[in-house]
Amino acid sequence: MFPRRRKEKRDDQKAEPLPERLPRHVAIIMDGNGRWALRRGLPRAAGHRAGVEALREVVKACLEWGIQILTVYAFSTENWKRPRSEVEALMNLLVEYLEREVRELHEQGVQIRAIGRLHELPPEARQKLQQAMQTTAGNGRLVLNLALNYGGRAELVDACAALVKDVEAGKLRAEEVREDTLERYLYTAGLPDPDLLIRAAGEMRLSNFLLWQAAYTELWVTSTLWPDFRREDLLAALEDYARRERRFGGLK
Ligand code: FPP
Repeated sequence: MFPRRRKEKRDDQKAEPLPERLPRHVAIIMDGNGRWALRRGLPRAAGHRAGVEALREVVKACLEWGIQILTVYAFSTENWKRPRSEVEALMNLLVEYLEREVRELHEQGVQIRAIGRLHELPPEARQKLQQAMQTTAGNGRLVLNLALNYGGRAELVDACAALVKDVEAGKLRAEEVREDTLERYLYTAGLPDPDLLIRAAGEMRLSNFLLWQAAYTELWVTSTLWPDFRREDLLAALEDYARRERRFGGLK
């Protein structure tokens, strides 16, 4: 479903030597926007806006380097606890991002997907998102998977509820439930687990991100705040990943 592709290069761009073994699926916790803004005496929303620029650069690098899936944590189920003005700023940024970027992303072969309790997003964000997903559904160069109103625990609860419903309806028997059965009920159904999870801004935790899917994901944490994250940082993560030995609980 996701064939390995060669990395592509444009003539006008500096050639970075890429590691041979690249992750297929990269997930990112884009943390540190608030601290970035605070250090500059700017409102937190300015940090989020600068974070969108970093995202843009990372998407570009993923396209260029042949990464197939990029999942980014844009809004968590816990982020509703922030001041209303910040929540609104984030939702407006999402709308603005989709309005401004979808056409180019579509031309570049990006498929936009989303994971989370999307039905709880404000109507305008939900509608733009649906539109973006519909427009780009046939693309296969890069999946840009936006985690919006996403929580790993909420995802597991939603998956269990849907599974139980199917058992009650006689579509599934309890004895048939295995790991791959539950996986079919996750928001990420059909996507491979992330190979590499990058966290910006130094915190050493998962923060309720991809709890099931990250069981064997390689973690890479940088102290760089997300708005300062550039393709060099992504490359450093990819180089580190290429040196890791993945055993998935087995032996070498
Ligand atoms: C965490 O930083 C970041 C977020 C809660 C939002 C991330 C969103 C973006 C980068 C932009 C929006 C994305 C799209 C797709 C338009 P923080 O505010 O918790 O930082 P802090 O820990 O320094 O306060």
